[in-house]
Amino acid sequence: SARDNIPTPRGLPIIGNILDVQDEVPIRGIERLTDLYGSIFKLNFLGRKTICIASAELLEELCDETRFWKTPSEALAALADNKAGAEKPRRGLFSAPSTEDEDWQQAHRTLMPAFGPLSIQQMFGEMHDLCSQLVLKWARLGPSFRIPVTQDFTRLTLDTIGLCAMDYRFNSFYKDEMDPFVQALNSSLTAASDRNKVGSILKRMMPWDRSGQKVQIDREYMTRVSTELIQHRRNNPTEKRDLLNAMVLGKDPKTGKHMPDGLISANIITFLIAGHDTTSGLLSFAFFNLLKSSEAYFKAQQEIDRVLGRNKLKPEHLKDLKYIDAVLRETLRLNPTVPAFIRSIRKDNQNDVEALGGGEYAIRRDDRVLCLISKCQRDPKVYGEDANEFRPERMLDENFQRLPKGAWKGFGTGIRACIGRGFAWQEAQMAFTLLLQNFNFRLDDPSYEIKIKQTLTVKPDEFYMRATLREAIT
Ligand code: HEM
Repeated sequence: SARDNIPTPRGLPIIGNILDVQDEVPIRGIERLTDLYGSIFKLNFLGRKTICIASAELLEELCDETRFWKTPSEALAALADNKAGAEKPRRGLFSAPSTEDEDWQQAHRTLMPAFGPLSIQQMFGEMHDLCSQLVLKWARLGPSFRIPVTQDFTRLTLDTIGLCAMDYRFNSFYKDEMDPFVQALNSSLTAASDRNKVGSILKRMMPWDRSGQKVQIDREYMTRVSTELIQHRRNNPTEKRDLLNAMVLGKDPKTGKHMPDGLISANIITFLIAGHDTTSGLLSFAFFNLLKSSEAYFKAQQEIDRVLGRNKLKPEHLKDLKYIDAVLRETLRLNPTVPAFIRSIRKDNQNDVEALGGGEYAIRRDDRVLCLISKCQRDPKVYGEDANEFRPERMLDENFQRLPKGAWKGFGTGIRACIGRGFAWQEAQMAFTLLLQNFNFRLDDPSYEIKIKQTLTVKPDEFYMRATLREAIT
């Protein structure tokens, strides 16, 4: 049995609590309410109830895969329906409705090996190629150049996912304008994440509103480009072990079937969306945190000098860069670039009500629980009074492995956790290491404090730094 003790702020008729959570940065609007209502509360958006949770203990319960599972957000679902030719609409892994969905199962089984450690290591060379381009770019521009950190990391991560996933070179480093594919991607992402803003809701009610069509046009454009890439690969087969080949050539180990083109296309778009903004945000926040902590900066650079010196980075170096791992983990704790995910009662769970918090709170069959990862990962019960501070030491292996289960979930949880985690980690370790090996960095404006920009992920905004070569590159 469970009691109904979830605080529910009173909202307005029809729109409910939408005004309570208005903020330039949508997720911040919700996070702010934790100061008023604590670690669990219920909101109403246009009649739709959402329970929000913000403690590591509650998160651990919700991550119990025997009781709960992932429910994708509607914003993403709307974005990701994908139709190639006469096929039925398909969804990529990220926005698939559930693990019962056959498309999710097929894509999951076919793609898991392609994201395994061996496959990721085979991408080392291409990742290194692009990362070296970034080093060269910053070296050429010199110490007086204000580096737009987030933008340049987005160029890096986009080019990397393009090359490693489908042998496509976006070549963004020397372009001011983003590739049209990326423009379509970004504008549809912005539209999706604006859905709960009052301005946007009102706008959509107006008869002259065309924003729905714009999303449709962007989506069709992305589908067309990805379908062309698939066709191009079929007509020009290669031996390359990229994600596109894994999908075009690979067979489902259970059924022996190939993935249909519409499903491949939906997943290409998914990888481009899920695979670049997130990692770019992680790198940008990591540099910000390091530039604000001279002690951590010193330790990170010292470790790189000890493990690597002036040598070329090789895959086997990465496992020795323990402090760098800790810096990245601590960054993902304080600044998770995917700041929330949604859990609900599993379809195959017999109970229509699940008790949380030792029976204090009732979660019902149709409830959606928004897990505020950014808050759960700053839980003082786990991390102590300095939970809001950047202290990589607490993420060194021996400490990291001892964390309670709901304390660090930046890559999601359970069977629908991030399939690209190994990919993202190798890329982030590499970029971080090569850059600190080659440059000394400082903030462009020493008084800069973090500003956040949210599309679907969160990233630092207006963050600039400067880079001075440590020695001439050989
Ligand atoms: C799922 C975070 C990089 C592909 C997820 C989830 C999170 C996440 C939190 C679960 C979302 C949910 O429960 O609703 C991150 C972070 C990254 C990152 C923080 C970088 C630092 C990547 C990369 C790729 C990728 C590089 C692809 C190359 C995916 C996919 C899923 C996913 C396909 C859905 C898996 C499924 O439902 O089966 N990611 N991700 N991610 N991620 Fe990532």
